[in-house]
Amino acid sequence: MTILGIETSCDETAAAIIEGKKKFVTLKSNVLATSLALHAKTGGIIPEQAAREQAKYILPVLKETLNKAFGTPDNFDAIDAIAVTYGPGLIGSLLIGVETAKTLAYVLNKPIIPVNHMIGHIYANWIVSADSAAGASFEKLPVFPALALVVSGGHTDLLLIKKHGDIRLLGGTRDDAAGEAFDKIGRMLGLAYPAGPEIERLAKRGNPERFRFPRPLLSENTYEFSFSGLKTAVLRQVTTLPDSASLSQEIKADIARATQDAIIDVLVKKTLRAAKEHTVASILLSGGVSANQTLRDTFHKAAANTGITAEIIAPQKSLCTDNGAMIASAAYYNFSPAPWNEITADPELYF
Ligand code: KG4
Ligand code: ZN
Repeated sequence: MTILGIETSCDETAAAIIEGKKKFVTLKSNVLATSLALHAKTGGIIPEQAAREQAKYILPVLKETLNKAFGTPDNFDAIDAIAVTYGPGLIGSLLIGVETAKTLAYVLNKPIIPVNHMIGHIYANWIVSADSAAGASFEKLPVFPALALVVSGGHTDLLLIKKHGDIRLLGGTRDDAAGEAFDKIGRMLGLAYPAGPEIERLAKRGNPERFRFPRPLLSENTYEFSFSGLKTAVLRQVTTLPDSASLSQEIKADIARATQDAIIDVLVKKTLRAAKEHTVASILLSGGVSANQTLRDTFHKAAANTGITAEIIAPQKSLCTDNGAMIASAAYYNFSPAPWNEITADPELYF
């Protein structure tokens, strides 16, 4: 089955075509236009501006997605179904993808599957690279029961998946998400948005002993998260430094290190605790923050140290942040088309 996936929940206009092969999916094309550079200038996303950019990019992105997959921009016959993110996200941005997908479904008379963006992130774990699909070397594939940690700019959620379609939320963030904490703390350090990748780079040179920030809710018996206290602690630290207006590169690196250590510590310990409690066969990382290599390495080390044998799986780094392929993959494994005229964008959608 060949599925076109459309994702426009935030600042990325993304589309992809995947081919479902039962146990995994492969990419036929994966195209992305981003208004990130625009938002980097303002230090965050201005929703109105993001929506306008979505409207500008959506048709060129679709054209290129088809072109890359089939060598022609109008071969809709080769597509069996259309998948689209219907929430959560920014309403103006979501509407562009949802209305475009509905129009295609109506005009082409194809099934349309509305996909929850967060569940989409998890399904990036079923997408294998071309080499693997050709049998060169097989990446690890998820096995159920699985525990999913979705760590993005808007969410930090732990979910138990017994099988496709059987997903239960164990806990989510009470306030800021992990990615949001990276971004807001980055802003305090004068870093461009989104700050996660730059904090990761800086942290490599940081001294782990100089600062120590709180690990919110770590010792409490809950799978909920909270990162706003961490943000406040960093702000307090920054403003009490003698040169808070012009932080040296060294201090920035030390703060980046302590921030990343605190976030990773909470994410890894809570996830492994849940993995043990529910004796899962795999742990699926996903969302923009899961591109963080230090997070991935810490997961592997900590699991080995605590005797957890579940496979730790994460998507290819380029598929951790928003993309259309993960949306198409989620639709393939949870194939439940809806009448196009009943699909509406839902910015507050949760699980
Ligand atoms: O999943 P995503 O693309 O968008 C949302 O659905 O929110 O995630 C974006 C988030 C941003 O907060 C960004 O700072 C963070 O992912 N991020 C990272 C890294 N790469 C992206 N955080 C830490 N380390 C990274 N390498
Ligand atoms: Zn996302």
